[in-house]
Amino acid sequence: MAQFETVEVSTDLLICGGGMAACGAAVEAAYWAKKQGLKVTMVDKATPDRSGAVAMGLSAINTYMGVVEGENTPEGFVKYVRGDLMGITREDLVYDIGRHVDGTVNLFEKWGLPFWRDHETGKRVRGGKWQIMINGESYKVIVAEAAKNALAEMGDKGEVIDRVFILEPLLDGDRIAGAVGFSVRENKIYVFKAKAVMAAMGGAVGVFRPRSVGEGLGRSWYPPFSSGSSAYFTIKAGAEMTCQEVRFIPVRFKDGYGPVGAWFLFFKAKAKNALGEDYMVTNAAELEKWGPYGKVKPVPANLRNWLGMLDVNAGKGPIYMHTPEAMAAFGDAIPDEKARKKRMKELEAEAWEDYLDMTVSQALLWAGENIRPEDRPSEIAGAEPYFIGSHSGASGAWCSGPEDLAPKEYFWGYNRMTTVKGLFAAGDACGASSHKFSSGSHTEGRIAAKAAVAFIVDNPSEPKIDKAQLDAIIERINRPMKLFEENHAKSSDPNINPAFMKPRQYMHRIQKIMDEYAGGYSCAYTTSAKLMEKGLEKLAMLKEDSEKLAAENLHELMRCFENIHRTAQAEVHIRTMLFREETRWPGYYFRSDIPTIKDPEWRVFVNIAMDPKTGEYSLKKIPVIELVK
Ligand code: FAD
Ligand code: ADX
Repeated sequence: MAQFETVEVSTDLLICGGGMAACGAAVEAAYWAKKQGLKVTMVDKATPDRSGAVAMGLSAINTYMGVVEGENTPEGFVKYVRGDLMGITREDLVYDIGRHVDGTVNLFEKWGLPFWRDHETGKRVRGGKWQIMINGESYKVIVAEAAKNALAEMGDKGEVIDRVFILEPLLDGDRIAGAVGFSVRENKIYVFKAKAVMAAMGGAVGVFRPRSVGEGLGRSWYPPFSSGSSAYFTIKAGAEMTCQEVRFIPVRFKDGYGPVGAWFLFFKAKAKNALGEDYMVTNAAELEKWGPYGKVKPVPANLRNWLGMLDVNAGKGPIYMHTPEAMAAFGDAIPDEKARKKRMKELEAEAWEDYLDMTVSQALLWAGENIRPEDRPSEIAGAEPYFIGSHSGASGAWCSGPEDLAPKEYFWGYNRMTTVKGLFAAGDACGASSHKFSSGSHTEGRIAAKAAVAFIVDNPSEPKIDKAQLDAIIERINRPMKLFEENHAKSSDPNINPAFMKPRQYMHRIQKIMDEYAGGYSCAYTTSAKLMEKGLEKLAMLKEDSEKLAAENLHELMRCFENIHRTAQAEVHIRTMLFREETRWPGYYFRSDIPTIKDPEWRVFVNIAMDPKTGEYSLKKIPVIELVK
């Protein structure tokens, strides 16, 4: 059997992940660490040039205030995010992003990211109130280059390690001490010793059964590479987690998963049911049922979903995005025939570019289904649930806020530090601060990295590694391949064996449990206490069976542990939905046993933590403190 070599890496700051938040962290950490002679190491399971949610590129920067231009303020941003999340958000964290994000966006342009600019005014073109348009196919390559350059300039004090899957945190009492991972290309186990660690490994996809099956399996809206590692890592370290019930259900162009934002905001398209009715108008009375949040503008994302879902449930589906109508309206506004034709050609190019820059599969699907967006509307539908703290979900670790803004209940020393000493979180990994998107995640990485360097300066002692803990993790990494080696000859098909389970089989099992018991798409996102209790029972058995996961090669080894990471995310999700005795986010999930919102009783955060010693979970309510009036 292949033997694993153990590689030890000692560093000061370990950045886990190579996505938007991690790249922001690398740039900022390099600046502050250089002054202190500290080392920074960034580790990605893929390679930062094309990893994470921005791997394919993006077509817009969804968070840009335009403070200098007088377009928005951080206060306005807080009100927007608070409304969109039905009142549950950490206003200190959101404000902090709002006041710093424009600086990050300016850096992107300086590094070479092409922005759309108005031919006449030269101003950045707005997609919507908070969004600006970019030619973003190479967005991630540009952002990664800046991060890698910053670390390279540190000489032997800066390093990027690719293709290493971060598996487990290492702890020294109540302080983080590093992490263990393994190469997905070579037989190497990596032991990272660090004085501070940043979790920036994105959100979670594949926890719920996806709509894509068979040869389409793996096609999802959020990147299939994000398998809940941030959540697992922070949970296992004993960090308090927040908003684990706040999943995100993106309504997307069906099957290709093309995002809808540019169509709604830039093209000003309408989504209508199969009878041609605009459900946002015909179902508007429903908004009355959802307290003050039904009156918020724009209507919160989950309520927009909900109004559409009501029509689907009433047999009025499918829902269509009326792309031809929207494009024609642009043309109708131009009286000159030649100018109109020219504008229509530009619009057609922009419609295709939106997807060629960001979700190539949508462009392929249009081509495959003979859809010209100027001629035929496209079907849209709710996708499977995702865990995405940086987007319109909110799940992540419970982090300290900035010293000058955070009330004492939300502040414990270092900005974006979790409740575990020296463990920081940013992007999807940091909870209760939604609508960061790509630019805000990068910004949050920068904020967290600066604070992490300050933590290291204040806590310079080397944390101790617990040998027993390390040996147990190394043994765990070895087990799936050993199990395969020892047993595969027991059957003629390597995928079917009485002694083990392959990662794909495990994945189908967790996805089925979550779909049917925790409100997946096939149950119209509906669940109840009894269903969730049953789901937890089944998850417990699945966890027992995870000991039987077997891997034929390193790629499958990664798949095994991706599933184990997903399972932690699944469990905290069910436990938190169960604890919250109301339905606050219809359109994300609906508790059929408690179908109404309960304000102010449940206008609270629900936090959950696992005791690393006992594995027991505890839950509690935390007050939402409103800072912006
Ligand atoms: P990511 O950027 O996803 O990075 C996660 C990183 O963690 C990756 O490098 C991954 O390889 C790594 N990783 C994961 N697990 C491990 C592990 N176990 N070990 C080591 N590394 C690991 N935002 C916008 O501003 N504008 C848009 O137009 C826009 N459109 C979007 C369209 C799509 C299709 C998607 C999916 C997202 C879009 N977003 C958009 C949102 C934006 O991409 C995210 O908000 C942002 O990327 C989140 O940053 P992050 O660093 O938390 O995660
Ligand atoms: S993306 O990340 O995949 O591009 P999406 O297309 O949903 O996400 O949204 C892009 C941006 O538009 C986000 O800022 C989102 O909040 C916003 N958005 C999408 N649809 C609407 C809508 N109908 N009204 C207001 N804002 C919207």
